[in-house]
Amino acid sequence: MKRSDFGRDFLWGAASASYQIEGAYNEDGKGESVWDRFTHTPGKIHDGSTGDVACNHYHLFEKDLDIMKEMGLPLYRFSIGWPRIFPTGSGAKNQKGVDFYHRLIDGCLSRGIEPAVTLYHWDLPQALEDRGGWTSRETYEHFCEYVDFATKEYGSKIKRWMILNEPFAFTTLGYMLGQHAPGRKGPSNYLPAVHHTALAQGEGGRIAKANCPNAEVGTTYSCSWIEPAGSFSAQAAARYDYLMNRMFVETGLGLGYNTKLLPLLKKLDAFQKEGDDSRMKFDFDFIGIQNYSREIIRWSPFIPYVWGSMIPAKKRCPKTTDMGWEIYPDGIYHLLKQFASYKGVKKIYVTENGAAFPDVVTGDRVHDAERTQFIQDYLGAVLRAKNEGVNVQGYIIWSFTDNFEWAEGYRPRFGLVHVDYETQKRTVKDSGLWFRGFLAGK
Ligand code: NOJ
Repeated sequence: MKRSDFGRDFLWGAASASYQIEGAYNEDGKGESVWDRFTHTPGKIHDGSTGDVACNHYHLFEKDLDIMKEMGLPLYRFSIGWPRIFPTGSGAKNQKGVDFYHRLIDGCLSRGIEPAVTLYHWDLPQALEDRGGWTSRETYEHFCEYVDFATKEYGSKIKRWMILNEPFAFTTLGYMLGQHAPGRKGPSNYLPAVHHTALAQGEGGRIAKANCPNAEVGTTYSCSWIEPAGSFSAQAAARYDYLMNRMFVETGLGLGYNTKLLPLLKKLDAFQKEGDDSRMKFDFDFIGIQNYSREIIRWSPFIPYVWGSMIPAKKRCPKTTDMGWEIYPDGIYHLLKQFASYKGVKKIYVTENGAAFPDVVTGDRVHDAERTQFIQDYLGAVLRAKNEGVNVQGYIIWSFTDNFEWAEGYRPRFGLVHVDYETQKRTVKDSGLWFRGFLAGK
């Protein structure tokens, strides 16, 4: 398999997110985010760590961009931290935060790297959370103001925008299960968060496109290939597939909420206003799919609303990644076909794929053969889908460097580049060296 097998216009890159790498959590006027608050609350993060310093990318970004250039990376996907620009979510902007992203974008451009920007990768300003966060319609309205500002401010330099990162993940983990910031639980939080997120996705897309008519505007979805444990579990698997893979792409496509499959969603009526159906709908230029694993669903009478549970990969697979996720390259092939089959999905980029594995650090080398194998196998599956007619036009690896993996802390390492958190030394791993060779056509 060679880079040229994917065609000349295929995009290649690596990704990150503001809270996971930047650090400098309280510098230069940045406001508090829900992740600052959450990580500073004892017991929330498995290893007790925070993103206060993380990879110190806020101060070391020039060095990181030099490594990208050296690797021959054509594109860098990163996110803008909303509370760096609007410390309290709305109102007065923080010029130093605005300037930081100009420097980062300019640093990419001057090295011939395309900056591709995610507008929301989960670091909601805490001041908005204090007034309800995504459960409040006000957050959606302020999100629109923030998108309007950012797309005007940086618009002339950006060719690809992503409105939201993984709406399923942040609404479910943050507002239903309480495992991520802001740590809220239950349908009374989850349902309004879902609806306001669906509105933010559609309206955010419309605002970005109006401000940047020549840019591509897309959004990204987490997805897992879902299979039932047996025919008895088929309905439960369909509900998981809907929630994990379909709900937000379908609101964007104007298909509304599937209340037949999930009667709980009828309660969303309470949060709907006239005109919301068209506010949620937006004709995205592309969608990003982010896939890591497969889930097997078994019928269960104990899990309300979905009536099914996931069989943990550790119980059914001899080998998993460091996240405990199954390695299943065929899944990305099936998902590409599934998403491409929607009328209205025009183009797909794989905006995240990668794996956490233990690295073997020996002197100046970091050996991670499993990561290289993982990427090659998943890429092979992407190519198969492409050759069968799926319009997939890019592949972005998660992640450029090791970073703060949310509730898991720093234990799982996803990077192509190793970070020694004591010294902040970066070392390109064997997988990164392989990717450099692949990008160079070797
Ligand atoms: C999804 C998220 O977008 C990213 O923030 C996270 O680190 C990776 N997947 C790995 O879990």
